[in-house]
Amino acid sequence: MLIAGNWKMNTDASSCVDLARGVVRESENAGVVRVTICPPNVFLSNVVKVLDGTRVSLGAQNMHALGSGAYTGEVSGEMLRSLGCRYVILGHSERRQYFGETDAEVSRKVTKAIKLKLVPIVCVGENLDQRRAGRERVVVAAQVKYALEGLTLSSSNALVIAYEPVWAIGTGETASPAQAQDMHALIRTLVRQQFGEKIASGLHILYGGSMKPANAKDLLGEKDVDGGLIGGASLQANVFGQIIQAAQEIEQDSRTSSTV
Ligand code: PGA
Repeated sequence: MLIAGNWKMNTDASSCVDLARGVVRESENAGVVRVTICPPNVFLSNVVKVLDGTRVSLGAQNMHALGSGAYTGEVSGEMLRSLGCRYVILGHSERRQYFGETDAEVSRKVTKAIKLKLVPIVCVGENLDQRRAGRERVVVAAQVKYALEGLTLSSSNALVIAYEPVWAIGTGETASPAQAQDMHALIRTLVRQQFGEKIASGLHILYGGSMKPANAKDLLGEKDVDGGLIGGASLQANVFGQIIQAAQEIEQDSRTSSTV
């Protein structure tokens, strides 16, 4: 399981350090659960110092597809890599919706991240109108295909996909465990078709959209839900810690049942 915190445009130069310290504390007993936090770019170097030597890794929320050049205000994957980032969120619905990111752009960024050995957390998900029209599978399948087009993967750890129904992000509404499972199974099938069974079965497919302690265990308990991408509930260390704990309990239960 992988539990990732997307801090979005929150925290400041001192609260980012406090929050990162809190997450480190909450992750001490996370067992096999992987934990990553994605602060705003401007605070990555503050946070990386706190994470040094801990089991929490660092991620960014976006990057440019090119390495350097005259692109005022942008940050490249090379820069993130040089700071010690392991993950980068790409194609988040807020980037697509508010900053006009296209599938083609997301695809270029994903290719670049993988080349740099940064693990992209590729976000896909339908909006409310698309779900109401029963088009969620078509929409998400197209996003996945586009984002992964032409990729070669050396291992299932090189890529993460996050299913984030847009209608559930920051709204307090959550997909039901069955809805999440259905979409995650679809995504795994698409990955299997492109990359084969080994990569598909090892791939982390995260659910995102108002995940919180009260619903985490049910969502994470679904067969194809391998973790969470958490926004609002990642901004308080103890709340985020409860989600990590839920993931840890599920891991423990599945290990116990597979050895019985
Ligand atoms: P949320 O955000 O948990 O606040 O809904 C999730 C996300 O956008 O990644």
